[in-house]
Amino acid sequence: MTKSKEDDDKELYQFVASMPKVELHAHLNGCIREETLFDLARQKNVELPAKLFSLDHHTNNDDHVNSFMYNVKPRSLTDCFDMFAVIPKCVNDLASLERITREALQDFANHHVAYLELRSTPKRINQSLSKRQYVETILRVMKEFQEVEEERYQQQSTSTSSTETTTRLPMKCRFLVSIDRSGSVHEAQENADLAIEFSQQPNSLVVGMDIGGNPTKNDFTDFKPALSRARKAGLKTTVHCGEVPVAAGPDDTDPRLAKARDEVLAIFEFRPDRLGHALLLPESLRNELTTLQVPVESCPTSNVMTLELAKHMGGDLIHGLRQHPQLQYWLDDNYPISIGTDDPGVFNTDATQELVLLAKAQEGVTTETLKRIVLDSVNHAFCNVELKDQMKQLMGEFFATMEQV
Ligand code: IMP
Ligand code: ZN
Repeated sequence: MTKSKEDDDKELYQFVASMPKVELHAHLNGCIREETLFDLARQKNVELPAKLFSLDHHTNNDDHVNSFMYNVKPRSLTDCFDMFAVIPKCVNDLASLERITREALQDFANHHVAYLELRSTPKRINQSLSKRQYVETILRVMKEFQEVEEERYQQQSTSTSSTETTTRLPMKCRFLVSIDRSGSVHEAQENADLAIEFSQQPNSLVVGMDIGGNPTKNDFTDFKPALSRARKAGLKTTVHCGEVPVAAGPDDTDPRLAKARDEVLAIFEFRPDRLGHALLLPESLRNELTTLQVPVESCPTSNVMTLELAKHMGGDLIHGLRQHPQLQYWLDDNYPISIGTDDPGVFNTDATQELVLLAKAQEGVTTETLKRIVLDSVNHAFCNVELKDQMKQLMGEFFATMEQV
């Protein structure tokens, strides 16, 4: 009997769901589960802007072939930042911070993420909680989670009843301290101080710094000194890049496009260890990046949403991703990329769905390609070499036990 398209889709989904994964680009507050956000908003009497949570864009998706990938809640770049303004009002005490951290870790582990780098901007979330306590809380929850994961894995390894489909590797977690570019340089320097201080503690989980936030605000160069200081202290760095349109060449006089181009060039010159998105690069800058070979954290659903590609394709994420400005070039060139979720709560996605989407949208992406991308992204991780080697060995062994689809 020949297999139907539905069978193939199911097989692909199951394969991807069970494979060990690497997540290098996830923002803690963007991981918040929608039901948790609603729950916290209720508890704390926070009014959530109705326009961000309505399904008014596409309500009738029943007849759609890929209905689970149908973009029912398109969120533009502006919508995202409206959401990021409201989430901290709900996550405003120790209990809610612990809760969203634990739930984020659990969600990644449930999707068989074996190595996670989570990032967050330290916040004074209320009068009695300092930025230091914010970071301490996340690190404590991460450490506890890793211990439970290790215990579970040991038990699973010695149990005779676990099957290949239920087994998964224990999730290892590391933390990146973020700088929000819509904040002040002073805040950025404070965050760098914290990142450096925590990274120097024994067995620290803090391995790097990130610059993100609203790309229309301020400039990378304002925050470069804070990032340079972190790098000098041994931290790895990653910078969000090319999220707004960039001038094609030096002759383009549109001030906004020219500024965006100067900014990308300044980021390239800084040469971070990784780049976030690198999305709207004109050909000349794409070629320059090819020379630099700085690994890119690519986040398919996030990119499709913030560029509103799915909206232009009638709501379909798969067709939206086919309009991605860079992805096909990177795949054709074997350019070093990792696949991330960015904000799984905001974009209604998860680590499995990102890889399935990639395989469905991009020509020639097989399960072998996915395995190669995942294994290769361990090389871009900010943890030490010992952990990278351990991850590569464990993941390689796991892949060898998986049946091909
Ligand atoms: P947090 O750092 O844990 O509060 O996570 C949410 C923050 O991550 C947002 O306020 C932004 O600063 C940043 N962020 C999340 N998604 C994006 C994105 O797509 N582009 C740039 N920054 C982002
Ligand atoms: Zn991001």
